[in-house]
Amino acid sequence: MAGIMSAVPLLFDRKVVLVTGAGGGLGRAYALLFAERGASVVVNDLGGDIKGGGKSSSAADRVVEEIRAKGGNAVASYDSVEEGEKIVQTALDAYGKIDIIVNNAGILRDRSFARISDLDWDLIQRVHLRGSFKVTRAAWNHMKNQKYGRIIMTASTSGIYGNFGQANYSAAKLGLLGLANTLAIEGRKYNIQCNTIAPTAGSRLTQTILPQDILDAFKPEFVAPLVVWLCHESCQENGSLFEVGAGWIGKLRWERTLGAIVRQKNQQMTPEAVRDNWEQICDFDNAIKPKSYQDTFYEVLNKLGTNQEISTNPTSGPVQTSTSNVNPVEAIGKKMPSIVYTYTHLQPILYALGVGMTTKDPDHLKFLFERNEEFSCLPTFGVIPAQSGMFDLASVPGLIIDFTKVLHGEQYLELYKPLPTSGTLKSECTIADILDKGSGAVILVDIHTYNGGDLVCYNQFSLFAVGAGGFGGKRMSDKVKVIVHPPNRPPDAVMSDVTSINQAALYRLNGDWNPLHIDPSFAAVGGFRQPILHGLCSMGFAARHVLKQYANNDVTKFKAIKVRFAKPVIPGQTLETEMWKEGNRIHLQTKVKENNEVVLTGAYVDLEDTVYKPRDNGTDMQREELQSDVVFTEISRRIKDVGREMVKKVNAIFQWDITKEGRTAAQWTIDLKNGSGELYQGAARHQADTTFTLSDEDFMQIVSGKLNPQKAFFSGKLNIKGNIMHSQKLEVILKDYAKL
Ligand code: NAI
Repeated sequence: MAGIMSAVPLLFDRKVVLVTGAGGGLGRAYALLFAERGASVVVNDLGGDIKGGGKSSSAADRVVEEIRAKGGNAVASYDSVEEGEKIVQTALDAYGKIDIIVNNAGILRDRSFARISDLDWDLIQRVHLRGSFKVTRAAWNHMKNQKYGRIIMTASTSGIYGNFGQANYSAAKLGLLGLANTLAIEGRKYNIQCNTIAPTAGSRLTQTILPQDILDAFKPEFVAPLVVWLCHESCQENGSLFEVGAGWIGKLRWERTLGAIVRQKNQQMTPEAVRDNWEQICDFDNAIKPKSYQDTFYEVLNKLGTNQEISTNPTSGPVQTSTSNVNPVEAIGKKMPSIVYTYTHLQPILYALGVGMTTKDPDHLKFLFERNEEFSCLPTFGVIPAQSGMFDLASVPGLIIDFTKVLHGEQYLELYKPLPTSGTLKSECTIADILDKGSGAVILVDIHTYNGGDLVCYNQFSLFAVGAGGFGGKRMSDKVKVIVHPPNRPPDAVMSDVTSINQAALYRLNGDWNPLHIDPSFAAVGGFRQPILHGLCSMGFAARHVLKQYANNDVTKFKAIKVRFAKPVIPGQTLETEMWKEGNRIHLQTKVKENNEVVLTGAYVDLEDTVYKPRDNGTDMQREELQSDVVFTEISRRIKDVGREMVKKVNAIFQWDITKEGRTAAQWTIDLKNGSGELYQGAARHQADTTFTLSDEDFMQIVSGKLNPQKAFFSGKLNIKGNIMHSQKLEVILKDYAKL
């Protein structure tokens, strides 16, 4: 591979390069080499003296002529870098775009520190730091829009190590490194890379300082190849600093001692404690090479007050080296471009085949044959119009992460009406929240899908970005659709299906083209012995099992599904879904039968509550009427009027499990947290804050004031799970019936 790579020359066909200060010295060498490699070059030079005085067009003109004489493409620009817009405009006028900038122009006004005048200081800052800023900013949006850019900043060893008589110059030169570091982060997602060089070369700037034989060894031509490589499209280097001269190149990075925590949690920090720990603070044994400031900082906060040391290897601890840059303030709440999804009957049929429907089962025909009288879309098809929202994450500001390390962790889908079998759906996609799990970041993406003005479904994709944690964010969020574990008893029903060898090849035709599911070599890079099935495909199988077992394949009964993807599935393996019925909620887990590994955990399907199906009897039947029904119906009526107000006041979800002869006979939920507040029959669709379990009789006793709720609680008649304090808020709701 290396042999093949090195045989490929680095060319710059159709690339437009701007080199500032290219009338001589290093800049001229860069311009000549870029032109020789096929680039169109803007040769900028103000043509002044080395102290920043004077002006002439001849320096730039000479280099342009030199390039043209050799058959290359070049135009001259005579503006000062302080007028960056004009220089970039020259590139746009001549070549229509700008791809590469080498910020190279420079002057010197050396003085020992005491003798530096304001002008000495200001001129140096203006040409080096402000000039590079002005030129780069003028080109930035063009680079962003074309999703390509390469930028070089020119620093100096005088800045890195200090140099007598160059205080002004050192400050400006290291300022450029700071600028480059941040541009490297901000530009990354637009394929704009920014690197810094600290060159040494014989030029008019150094000819009075260095002897001739040294000048001969340090030709500008011995620096230029590094600049050209860093600016090539195949170079992935970003945010780095290089020393270069005489044909030698070295890369620099930061090193930091492990340091010492010199205060105890909640205690004052004293100068004495700093002094007493000085040796350890400065001890470079086991030093680390931090890539970002978050690397250690988060860990320090966590460990304050414990006696633990900062770990030598941040990747082995709970906090990993962050290769990412997550700025939750910038990213959360961000809306992505709407997704428009137009489809015919073909897509729902393809989806049904993708999740294992087959004509062998006559029941399945209504999902596979468009002229079947009951032709329907499988409910989990609801993920398909929304899924491309996942591929747009790279455009979200504040979310600079390695997208090759993003795993699909969990999925929630809720349907508000059956999906149309064809049409155009529009999805709105928002970053709902970002959680910091230390080893990674959880990104919650909420997608609402509309048919015209009607909301048809809502998806929450929960993505785990490995290595992107440690940015100091929160660990939990009330936006999360939480997983729920199944009851502790053998499953009420089990269904299984053998997936086909081509299951992933078929499923991907629904629009998830990730090669992980089809390309063996790609899968191997991800550490899988062969391509794996899409998690959402396994979810489709499981949902199908529930729909068949508990809803007779009636899609109108399907309300919502939540799953966590725990392990990969290989096409050809058997998926076995275990189900537990608890009211309208069907808890489930799916295993690979061949190895007994659980692949979907904490999962459930919520069915519509109109039909009550007893646990051990598959046939539909209307449930027995309970005395408590009247009370709940009355509360429901009242909430319709005042629900919105109560959401503000109460902000909690209550669930009642009403028992009859020792078994749950009805479930009711009052949701005073979401939307405008509502009461519905069935288990809470979002996690309940408080769940009350009691018999129908005791419920009536309490609401009629004959049984004191506290007594009921202490005597075990009333069981309260979750936040007991919330139950006090119920007074507001139940006023007359008041006591629960
Ligand atoms: P040079 O003096 O040969 O080249 C600098 C060029 O920039 C000159 O042609 C000059 O006319 C031009 N220039 C100055 N002010 C300008 C402005 N306002 N607008 C447009 N052009 C302007 O010097 P050299 O050595 O080639 O330096 C190139 C860069 O490398 C400079 O930034 C310098 O600070 C840096 N550098 C050079 C080192 C060396 O050993 N030669 C050491 C460390 C850094």
